[in-house]
Amino acid sequence: MSADYVVNGSVAVITLNNPPVNGLGLATRTAAVEGLRKAQADAAVKAIVITGAGKAFSGGADIKEFNSPKALTEPTLHTLINVVENSAKPVVAAIHSVCMGGGLELALGCNYRVALPGAQIALPEVKLGLLPGAGGTQRLPRMIGLEKAINMIVSGTPILSEKLADTALFDEVFATGSDLLASAIAFANNVADVRPLPKVRDRKVHYPNHEAFLQFTRNTVKAMSGAFPAPIECVETVAASVTHKFEDGIKFERERFLHLIQTPESKALRHAFFAERVASKVPDVPADTPTREIRQAAVIGAGTMGGGIAMNFVNAGIPVVLLETKQEALDKGIATIRKNYENTMKKGKLTQEKFDQRVGLISGTLSYADIAQADIVVEAVFEDMGVKETVFTQLDEVMKPGAILASNTSTLDVDQIAGFTRRPQDVIGTHFFSPANVMKLLEIVRGKATGKDVLATTLALSKKLKKTGVVSGVCDGFIGNRMIEQYSRQAGFLLEEGCLPEQVDKAVEKFGFAMGPFRMGDLAGNDIGWYIRKRRYVEKPEIVYSKTADLLCEMGRFGQKTGAGWYDYKAGDRKAYANQAVNEMIVKHSADIGVERRKISDQEIVERLVYSLVNEGARILEEGIAMRASDIDMVYLTGYGFPVYRGGPMFYADTVGLFNVLIAMEKYAKGRHGDAWTPAPLLVKLAAEGKGFNS
Ligand code: NAI
Repeated sequence: MSADYVVNGSVAVITLNNPPVNGLGLATRTAAVEGLRKAQADAAVKAIVITGAGKAFSGGADIKEFNSPKALTEPTLHTLINVVENSAKPVVAAIHSVCMGGGLELALGCNYRVALPGAQIALPEVKLGLLPGAGGTQRLPRMIGLEKAINMIVSGTPILSEKLADTALFDEVFATGSDLLASAIAFANNVADVRPLPKVRDRKVHYPNHEAFLQFTRNTVKAMSGAFPAPIECVETVAASVTHKFEDGIKFERERFLHLIQTPESKALRHAFFAERVASKVPDVPADTPTREIRQAAVIGAGTMGGGIAMNFVNAGIPVVLLETKQEALDKGIATIRKNYENTMKKGKLTQEKFDQRVGLISGTLSYADIAQADIVVEAVFEDMGVKETVFTQLDEVMKPGAILASNTSTLDVDQIAGFTRRPQDVIGTHFFSPANVMKLLEIVRGKATGKDVLATTLALSKKLKKTGVVSGVCDGFIGNRMIEQYSRQAGFLLEEGCLPEQVDKAVEKFGFAMGPFRMGDLAGNDIGWYIRKRRYVEKPEIVYSKTADLLCEMGRFGQKTGAGWYDYKAGDRKAYANQAVNEMIVKHSADIGVERRKISDQEIVERLVYSLVNEGARILEEGIAMRASDIDMVYLTGYGFPVYRGGPMFYADTVGLFNVLIAMEKYAKGRHGDAWTPAPLLVKLAAEGKGFNS
């Protein structure tokens, strides 16, 4: 049973019961329709209340039914809502906690809606590249007005029930702490004899001069959503609630929904939705693997990353001690953290009380003795094996048995680092991304000896810190940076062959990346890549890089931090302005190396950058560094600004077709530095079998 039926006096109560959020799966829909039939047939029943058990009224469609024929098996959500709307007896939705998507559409099919304060009300379908497909676009504007409905449906953002108390959506929002069911039954008894039954569909949407408003909205939404089609489709469909009769509006909604569900963008978003959930699953580390308790943390190094990492612990309520070698560096690191929280408070996003709490959880020290009792220590010192050795040798001496010893290294060998200790099973890589207090991605690097309980604990911790944890094996650069290296190399070659930074960035940003490679370089600091390349020139002289980035650094142009990089920046403004001297340097460099510059299309730019990621991703997959293609996608979606509606590089390659990707790569292999395009054997194999990375 996934909906319960009881009769309370003259009121039948149908309680949706499908944990965790009463998803409207087939069994729940069937049981709800069955309950409605029973209530119609029972002469003693005068009114019906629909509510939800546990933590929600209903979170909407059952995700387990996504991409399965079950979603279309009768009774569908449409049928359920029709049965509700055509009930001869009044139906009251009693809403609490969560009422989203199909759950809200079901409530809108009811004659009345009552709620507790604090319930999250939303139509979030746009986040999966869809629009509400069970009448939401037609019924919501009839209850909260055109403008509010467009805002809710285009953004997908939840609104608290009390904030909607003054709209027609709710007949009553009860006082906090009320007994929802008792109040809803009392309400149902009161309206049991009212006829005609009020129906949302019978109302009209009034908006003076709606055409002007809709045109303005279309322009704004188009400008903001670029190549992502769902938001503008949401606008057009909600617009039909004003311009069409109800039945025609519903038909239009259905048509646009069926169109969107087939778009690559929606498929990509649904892929990302599942990819995020599966990323925390490691086949040989089952869910019941014991974990270690994390009550106290320490961070070594209070620089750029150490400060941000410490904030993550504090935000999750875990006290943290920062360790530095010099008092000055420690004071500076703690002052930066304070300043960050002060800025958040100034923006009104943190109360004084929370500020005091957070700052109170941070302390600093110069002595290892003060961190010995921490349950986890994250090292974030300079990216130098010698320094890492000094730190890990000391950690091994002082840390209590069972403490997790984590390194935030972005390129170094975690197994070698583990070898500096007598407890390699306790060592793991936790690669945070900058700014560490903001970025969602946490690459969890599993060393050869890392204990299963240490991995399970770190995965659980990543959830607690509100990160998307993705497990990577040990290799130079792990998943993300190893792939980005190939991308950056192509970006450099494009400059040598005829592009300027602006053209490359614009092409990739039009594809949907948050930032092109050169604006990204300016943000991260071009000197970091320079430092890494200098190491590579010695360690791996066979790898060829364009010299343009080195020449840029030789000009002292490290990026935004020096006010000048590939572009110029004005103080207090992140906007990038092209710089003539940089562009001249690029053109001159082509001449110096004897390359005749040519016009390069945006398509070539995007293909070379994205397919270079795909090819390296395929190698990472076949070497077992990543467990699944979708993990690689998660890394790129949450750490590198890859457009979420393209699903990540591996999913995008599947969308294009691996055969087509290979053909393009063969073409580029005939150009300069063609050896960069040697296809990964896995890519060749899957393309020959007509398969994709994710299928
Ligand atoms: P940073 O130079 O800003 O900070 C390093 C801090 O460590 C400095 O405050 C320094 O005083 C301190 N330190 C150096 N040796 C120490 C020792 N023996 N004991 C205690 N403290 C010591 O460096 P950043 O950027 O924070 O990088 C730290 C680590 O994080 C590196 O391994 C880096 O590769 C990695 N990383 C950096 C990212 C970035 O975007 N900056 C991103 C991801 C990882």
